[in-house]
Amino acid sequence: MTDMRRFLVAGNWKMNGYEARNRELCDGILAGLAAAEDVDVLVCPPYPFLASVNGLVRDSRVRLGAQNVSEHESGAYTGEVSAAMLKDVGCTYVIVGHSERRTLFGETDDQVAAKFRAALDADLTPILCVGETLEEREAMETEAVISRQIAAVVAATGIDAFASAVIAYEPVWAIGTGLVATPEQAQDVHNHIRGLLAAENADVAAGVQILYGGSMKGDNASGLLGMPDIDGGLIGGASLKSADFLAIVEAAAGL
Ligand code: PGA
Repeated sequence: MTDMRRFLVAGNWKMNGYEARNRELCDGILAGLAAAEDVDVLVCPPYPFLASVNGLVRDSRVRLGAQNVSEHESGAYTGEVSAAMLKDVGCTYVIVGHSERRTLFGETDDQVAAKFRAALDADLTPILCVGETLEEREAMETEAVISRQIAAVVAATGIDAFASAVIAYEPVWAIGTGLVATPEQAQDVHNHIRGLLAAENADVAAGVQILYGGSMKGDNASGLLGMPDIDGGLIGGASLKSADFLAIVEAAAGL
């Protein structure tokens, strides 16, 4: 991180949680936050809990985000949730293009770009996820894959949109596997992403927060967050227990 960007630590709860457990988790997070005032903190529960979790965190500085959004505005899209609805229940952020959405649910680069735009149109901050599979890394295609994923969004929205967005680099091979990218591996890709944006607009590139995601935990967070282009974390497994999540928030606060 540099002085011009704040850290953001975001919990992606994925398809986990129920009311009583969410309450316990949020109470735990809120109780431990005082020492980390300089770190932005976000939780992303499943859709059905957004309103109740909003009630739990509304009076705090913990922000609320969703894990996905429809690219459509409204109408006959059974089972989908629009950006305006997310805004209406208290979200300020939304994750778009998570690798689980891309691989398990077939989301394409163009669809992700449309979701990114839908989020911005509703005044939500999109967290655009990008990342390569193990196969792609081994074939030395990491930078090409990331470039393609970012270019699809830049082509659809223009570079200025990234002044109101967050990017998350999540190597697919590190998600939920316990295999974490080394700080150097992650920094290389973060630097590549910032370079791609800088080629279009240096100020936007310098300001955008780029999070790392993939098996980040309390004991590896400082090494990653200490790298110059890593501005926070998108946390899956370690976001489900307040002590684990707070350990990452504290690691950010200590840098
Ligand atoms: P993980 O998930 O921390 O459990 O690896 C990260 C993510 O998928 O956002």
